Parts: sequence; structure tokens; C-alpha cells
Amino acid sequence: MPTDPIVITVRPNGPLKIRGPAVVQRSDGEILSQEANVALCRCGQSSTKPFCDGTHKTIPFQAE
Ligand code: FES
Repeated sequence: MPTDPIVITVRPNGPLKIRGPAVVQRSDGEILSQEANVALCRCGQSSTKPFCDGTHKTIPFQAE
């Protein structure tokens, strides 16, 4: 039975928004998140890396 693909949307000057469900885990296997939707930081300034905390809106983050 086919399943819907995970969709990753690159937000303009913002995070990678993932419409899953998706599992985010560390390289050692620790699971950080098992959510239907998640946003991953792309600006490098989030205090909750690897997740976006909205900080990109307060800094001059410009994606290429
Ligand atoms: S992309 Fe949102 S805090 Fe980095």
C-alpha cells in the first residue's frame, strides 16, 4: 500500500518545515522528536537546535 511521501518545505529565510510524520534522532540514536510536523533550524541561531525556535525572525538571516 503506497504511503504519502514526507514533504520538506524550504521556507524563505526560515526553517525546513517537515510534514511527516517524521522521526528526528541524534547520530547516537536518541530520538528527539516523533511528530506529525516539525521545523528544523537553518539559520544556526536557534536555542533549541536542531529545531527552529523562531530566532531567525529576529536576526538578519538571509538564505541563499
Ligand atoms: S531557522 Fe528558525 S531559528 Fe533558525
